[in-house]
Amino acid sequence: MINEIKEKFQELFEQEPIVVRSPGRVNLIGEHTDYNEGFVLPAAINKEIFFAIAPNQSNTFRAYSFNLNESVEFDLDTIKPSDTDWANYLLGVIAQFQKTEHQVQGFDLVFGGNVPIGAGLSSSAAVECGLAFGLNELFGFGLDKFTLVQMAQKAEHEYAGVMCGIMDQFASMFGQRNHAIKLDCRSLEYTYYNLAMEEYRIVLCDTQVKHSLASSAYNTRRQECETGVALLKKHYPEVNSLRDATLDMLAKHQQEFDPTVYKRCVYVVSENNRVEAACADLEKGDMAAFGERMYASHAGLQHDYEVSCPELDYLVEQAKKSSAVLGARMMGGGFGGCTINLVRVDALDAFVKQMEDAYTQEFGVTLKTYVAEIVDGSSFAA
Ligand code: GLA
Repeated sequence: MINEIKEKFQELFEQEPIVVRSPGRVNLIGEHTDYNEGFVLPAAINKEIFFAIAPNQSNTFRAYSFNLNESVEFDLDTIKPSDTDWANYLLGVIAQFQKTEHQVQGFDLVFGGNVPIGAGLSSSAAVECGLAFGLNELFGFGLDKFTLVQMAQKAEHEYAGVMCGIMDQFASMFGQRNHAIKLDCRSLEYTYYNLAMEEYRIVLCDTQVKHSLASSAYNTRRQECETGVALLKKHYPEVNSLRDATLDMLAKHQQEFDPTVYKRCVYVVSENNRVEAACADLEKGDMAAFGERMYASHAGLQHDYEVSCPELDYLVEQAKKSSAVLGARMMGGGFGGCTINLVRVDALDAFVKQMEDAYTQEFGVTLKTYVAEIVDGSSFAA
């Protein structure tokens, strides 16, 4: 793929580009906690986007999408959201640089990759982080990775209209081969956990139900959490986010809550606790306990946070029936996309077959499955 992207660039723009890559991500546990200043445990995976880039000595940005076989061209003096959806992830990043003293000059870009779109593997973060990383290198701005992550997140807010947390962009940029990253989304402190699992594999089962995070549900969940925080703050002034809340605080004031807001808050507080406990499991090498927490996470997402869908629930129920699986849950924003499954390697093939057969029978759709390898974050492409 790298070579094809590079060749396409040479054919279209007749010069030698730099080539960078940025990966999609999985999240082992810690869903819808990032924008509540909580904990997440993502990892970058071998589904990646490649970018061939070079300056073009003009004031124009020209881009070609390898996957869509489409071109766009924009004047850098008038960068604003465009009608071409895919270009907005790129324009959003350029707009962030333009807010700094690091002025982007005209450049040409060919990009493409194998991160499935709308599958909850953060193809958009991979695009944003890859371009931010690439422009930083191309023009020698010298910005650190944290700054680039924050710029990529802002691009998503302002040009895709999703008020996402920081997890996806962080994982795409900071991923480390064979490691998951426990990120404290408040302090931005992070710790790598070794995932070099000889006996297990991370398997993604793609419902192929296309979620649209921008569809108001994601932003509504954020607001519900903020409503919960405002209520708790009346009693506990020290509570600035659900990260500061406890299940006791919630239980004590349950009567004052709208029942939906209450459920949302209980889920988030419980999920934060689960991430911490799951990291302790990893340290002990207790993968069975880790897997149980994945199932508990799914139950919370299904019943309390209500961001699952019948296809995801079905896949988790099927996984539970298999002795090959330690844990499974829906992953990412929800309403579609993938489940993440922790599967014994000796039963991998049987598991995949069993899930494929069950899904086809239930929904008449061929299930897509991926065995995720854990890779490094944004970098020059080898
Ligand atoms: C999406 C968002 C992330 C995070 C997850 C849910 O992937 O982009 O910031 O909130 O949903 O955990």
